[in-house]
This record gives sequence, structure tokens and C-alpha cells, in this order.
Amino acid sequence: MRVVFIASECEPWAKSGGLGDVVDALARALGQVGDGPDGPVDVFIPRYRSVAVPAEAKVGRTVAVPDPRGRRGTTKVDIVEVAGNGYRLRLVDAPAAFDRDGYYGDRDGDYPDNAWRFGLFCRTVLETLRSEDRPVDLLSLHDWHASPAAIFRDRFYADDRVVGRAAVVLTLHNLAYHGWTPLIEVDQLGLAERDALRFWDAAGIDLLGAGIRTAEVVNTVSPGFAREALTPAFGMGLEGLLHEKGSRFVGILNGLDTDLWDPARDRVLAAPYDRSDRTGKALCRADLLERNGFDPDDVGPVLGAIGRLDPQKGFDILGGALERLVKRGVRVIVQGSGDPSLADPFRRAARRHPRRVALIERFDREMARRIYAGVDFFVMPSRFEPCGQGQMISLRYGTPPIVRRTGGLADTVIDADEREGQGTGFVFDAATPRALAGAVDRAIAWRAAGGGRWAHLLDRAMAVDFDWRSSSAPHYLELFGRAMEIRAEAARA
Ligand code: GLC
Repeated sequence: MRVVFIASECEPWAKSGGLGDVVDALARALGQVGDGPDGPVDVFIPRYRSVAVPAEAKVGRTVAVPDPRGRRGTTKVDIVEVAGNGYRLRLVDAPAAFDRDGYYGDRDGDYPDNAWRFGLFCRTVLETLRSEDRPVDLLSLHDWHASPAAIFRDRFYADDRVVGRAAVVLTLHNLAYHGWTPLIEVDQLGLAERDALRFWDAAGIDLLGAGIRTAEVVNTVSPGFAREALTPAFGMGLEGLLHEKGSRFVGILNGLDTDLWDPARDRVLAAPYDRSDRTGKALCRADLLERNGFDPDDVGPVLGAIGRLDPQKGFDILGGALERLVKRGVRVIVQGSGDPSLADPFRRAARRHPRRVALIERFDREMARRIYAGVDFFVMPSRFEPCGQGQMISLRYGTPPIVRRTGGLADTVIDADEREGQGTGFVFDAATPRALAGAVDRAIAWRAAGGGRWAHLLDRAMAVDFDWRSSSAPHYLELFGRAMEIRAEAARA
């Protein structure tokens, strides 16, 4: 099975959220399980300005790509080859489209030519594969940025020996972003008005929707979110289409790269620790508190939160609970990047209580690791969460998560009060500061009571197995196999 990933992010080269981590970890894990793909998976991402291209990377080939904005309708694009960790990373180097400060936009919002940018990206990938002449079995597409590849396969390459027979599996990480392309812009994709009708409707093309329609199989990143996505509250207008997919729409829980995330081997931490000996965690806590101007000897509870400052993540819910929490003696460390206005309440609170509230307003990989290890509880008040990664990392780092009961959070965290003897964290229902504060109260009570019950909770948290290789990657292989069968059957018909 020859598998090719097309995605807009891949850690450590390009990441704005969990998508980047998942693309990297899944591509590697597929190569490590039995009956995996033949040879390393190919992962294509754009070469953004910020991608740190290793010195030994080389231009593997240059392809002439049909491009509505190119001179005489084509553009030459270099493919830069990078030896990825366990897969083959290939950067699509189209400077006019990607040599910019942001991946998707800048302070003024999304780039107005995103349809052209990601259309060119996808078209380049397919042309590159054709030029290599090794038939592709499976295109693994991630979110709307890769969806044009599904459209192009059917529109331009249906009879092509190399990419025409490839099955498409579209993985939905985020239903909130669709890549909506109105009719007057579909020419940016190299498509005509009648293509809009074929793949979507007379108003234009919803790229994510068209990807869902075209893909042989669609999945999202947890079973819980797969159920929610079928409802209007979570489906973001695509619930009907997902319903139509029937059994061809499933949820596969993301894994965690347990080599990258391991408190026993995490070199950033002040001291390593593991499930059998958690002493090092106290040193990590003191180190984190000191770095953030907090009193390291104060034993009072410390909460951590990390994420994109995006309404999805519910930082406003945490912000709304902040004063209440501080009054109860709780200290809070927040790391977030994105919409600066969502950081306002934290900025204000940090000014008012410099030794009780800290805001790290940037994406800081090392500080994130210190937070996962050093805080007492990790908070995720997400409004929706297809999977979520922070709760998995914090479990592995022995830091019980406090999460909203939604999507992948509900699938991965067991409430300590609801399931005595099985709990790994704390779960609340309403998306309100009050509900969050209530869960924090329960968590604090468990910690204050201490003893064997508390120690067992921490032990269970650290024992949860999220290794990609144990379950998620084999599930993807199964799904890929199914998609290939569906594709082959359609070809015979
Ligand atoms: C998106 C989702 C998040 C998920 C990640 C990786 O960022 O919002 O829930 O964990 O993709 O699949």
C-alpha cells in the first residue's frame, strides 16, 4: 500500500495546533505497525516562510503545475525533500503562495487568495506523484486545505494511472473551517462554474464539504466527536452530508507520541519522573512556579492551560472563572497564542495578581512541557473538541485534567467522582465559569484529602495507554484498506 499524506501542518516544521502533531505522529506510527504501508509514508506540506529547512535538504524535483495564475497557465514548483523522523517529508516550495508570515492569514484575517494557495499546493502534490510514476493507493487528506486534492483527482486525473485510482480518506480535525470559495473565485482553483455545480452548488464550493462528498471514507479524531458531528450543534452545516456517508464516516481516537511525550525522558524538565516514582514532579513544579514569579513553596493548587486563543478552546470560560479561583487561593498559568483579545482577562489578572496569575502569550514548546509536568491540574474548557491532545499529555505527565464533557475530552478522561476507582480526572458539563469552578473545587478537594485514593488517581492517569501503535494506527490501516476496496469496486462498476 503506497500512502501519501497531504496536510497544511506537520510538527516540528509547521504547527499551529494539534493537527501538526497528529500528522507527524500518525505518519511515523503507520510505518511502525505490522502490515503497514510499503516504504515510508510521503507527507506533503507547504514550505511556509517560517519552516526551518535543514541544511542537508535538497530540491528533489521541479514540476510544472497547471496554475490559473501562472505564466501561460503553469508554474514551476520545487519539491524540497527532508528526511523526516520515520517518514518522507516533502515541502511544496511555491514562494508566491507560501513565502508569507502566516500559514492561513495575518492580522487582517484570512488571506483572500487561500483557495488559490491551497489549490496550487494540492495540484502540485498530484503532479509530483504523477511525475514519479509510482501508483498511489491511498491519499490521506487532512482538513479543508487538502480537500482540493479529492476534487482534482476526479476532475483532472480520473483516468490517470498513478493518482486516478488512489482512494481518498479525509480526516476531519476541525469542522469550523471550510475553505468556502464563492463562485467568482472558483477559477482560483483552476475550476469552472460548472465544476462548482458538480462538486458543490451554484453559489460556489465549500472545499471541506466537497472533500467529504468525494472521499471514499471520512473520519474524525474521536468516536465521541463523530457522534456529535452528526448534530446541528457540532456539524457546522455539514451534518447532513456526514449523515449521508453512513458507515463511511467513523471516529478514530488520536493517539499520543509516547516517545516525544514522556516525563521520564523529557530533557526540558527540571527532573525526570515516571509512574513508579513521581518524586521528580515536585521539582518540576517548583521550577515552573519560580520561572513564572510564583512562590515555589506555596502548596496551594496550581492550574495550567495551554492552547490556541480561539473561541473553540473556551479560554473565555476560564477567564470568567479567574477572579473566583484566585479568591479561593488557586494560581493559574496560561499559555496561549492566537487572538490577542481572548488574552485580555488573563493579561489584566496577571497585572493585578502577578504572583498568582501568569500569562505566556506565545507558542513556547519548552514552557508547555514544564506546564504539563509542573501544574497540579490541567484545564481544558473547550466548547467543542474533536480530540484534544493536552489532556492526553497531562494524563501521561501525572497531572489530572479538568475538562468539559465534549468530543474527545469525554472519550479520554474519566471523572473521579462519577466512577470511583476508575477516575483519571474531572469532567464538567455546562460551558460556564460556574461549572468549571465547580469541577476545580472537586479536584482541589481530592488533592487536599490526599492519601491512597489520590495516589491511585495519579497512578491511573499515568497508566492510560495512548500510544499510536497500540490502537489508532492499526485502525487507520483498516480504514485505508476499506477505502481502497470501495475505490476498486467503483472502478469495476
Ligand atoms: C484540531 C482539533 C483537536 C484535535 C486536533 C488533532 O486541532 O481541534 O481537537 O486534537 O485537531 O486531530
